[in-house]
Amino acid sequence: MRSPNFIFYSLDAISDSWIGQSAYLLCPGDRCLRSSHTQTFKPIGYLELQGVWSLSRSQRLFGRANAVFPGGVNSPVRYYPPYPRYMRRGEGPYLQDVDGRKYADYVLGYGPLILGHSEGGVVNALHRVARNGMIFGAPAPDEVALAEMIGKYCPSLERMRFVASGSEATMHALRLAIHHTGRKKIVKMEGGYHGTHTLNYRSDIVDEVGFNSINELERKLSGKEYAAVIIEPALGNAGFIPPEKDYLQSVRELCNRYGSLLVCDEVITGFRTRFGLYSEAAGVEPDIVTLGKIIGGGMPLALYGGRDDVMRDVKPAGSFPQAGTYAAHPVSVAAGLKTLDILRRKDYGYLRHLSEIAAEKLLSSGLCVTSDTGMVSLFFTRGKVTDYRDVRAIDHSLFPKLFRLALDEGIFIPPSQEETIFISFSHTQKMVSDNFSFIAEMAENIYRSRRDRSLINS
Ligand SMILES: Cc1ncc(COP(=O)(O)O)c(C=O)c1O
Repeated sequence: MRSPNFIFYSLDAISDSWIGQSAYLLCPGDRCLRSSHTQTFKPIGYLELQGVWSLSRSQRLFGRANAVFPGGVNSPVRYYPPYPRYMRRGEGPYLQDVDGRKYADYVLGYGPLILGHSEGGVVNALHRVARNGMIFGAPAPDEVALAEMIGKYCPSLERMRFVASGSEATMHALRLAIHHTGRKKIVKMEGGYHGTHTLNYRSDIVDEVGFNSINELERKLSGKEYAAVIIEPALGNAGFIPPEKDYLQSVRELCNRYGSLLVCDEVITGFRTRFGLYSEAAGVEPDIVTLGKIIGGGMPLALYGGRDDVMRDVKPAGSFPQAGTYAAHPVSVAAGLKTLDILRRKDYGYLRHLSEIAAEKLLSSGLCVTSDTGMVSLFFTRGKVTDYRDVRAIDHSLFPKLFRLALDEGIFIPPSQEETIFISFSHTQKMVSDNFSFIAEMAENIYRSRRDRSLINS
């Protein structure tokens, strides 16, 4: 007997994260699925195919990627089963994949693209700069203009230092807080994400408290051993969770009382809900701020900065060591400067209006919805979500089903409930209304069928 052309795999074993697709074809020896996946799939038969069978371009690329990248990707959230769609073009609010499918994009590079993809002025600005040389190992004029503009609209940033990524910014902000105070420990919020470095993870120097819980924070800080409290003023990496009334002011007061620096990580929220800082709009002045994403206009750029007396510790003004080959990269600075220049003249009321439309549509599902200007989240619960403990209590098998249905409909949202859905100025009211009506209807169906299933099983 000839060996089969394809093994037919059932997805039942992982059906909780699947919908709308009941089987997957895998060529024997093909590398398009990770071996860990093939173990979770159940082979259910063999198929002899006559003629030519072609895998999609995304499948083929992922097969090759699996041989060279851990898990086939360069950042974990980019993977979703059975393989991610490879994107080749972005224009305004749309993405197109390598197989020619078009998507309304609500991932937007996980936040930077507040103007949408390939904004003409931004693309021209970075081309113009790149033609004159990529990197000089010396200061370049636009970095001064960009810092002046950011400082003008974010008064807490009395002095700042550009770096290449949000992870770098928060890492150096926390190192600087430790250097400045002489204390050794950091407090962060459960569900807060500040990049991938050890100061972002529970360790012997990092402790966590619940977001929106001022009592827990006071219990920690009262021992006066913490150099800093780092907080996203609204959580953006646990889904979107806004602060409760007066919470941020109370955090500020506790930091003052117990001598800890307040580090506001505004990598997501900076310039997102207004032209400036989220914390300042809430009436809070941080000691140190981190920015990223939007300030680079889609290119790698971030910063940490804040109180003059703290920032003067940084070399060469002071003794705190921090340096970077790609710090204030001229092409990133050009993209950031043009983005902020355009954004400064935009009416954030329009972005707020789009977000209100999205939230209103999602609310028709009966599920928990949170939103602010340019950001929205849907949680598969009818209860309230005010901290990460609420998020963890939710059935996490449901959101991937929603993601899958949206993707097949040509709507690209993050594959995880713990990421924020972003909206840009390039989206139109009609597309937001249509897309979020669809998402709401699917979410309601998924939630209802889950409850029906649990009734049958009980
Ligand atoms: C709030 C926050 N801080 C820091 C980071 C890390 O930024 P980057 O991915 O540029 O290193 C992120 C990334 O999503 C973030 O959301």
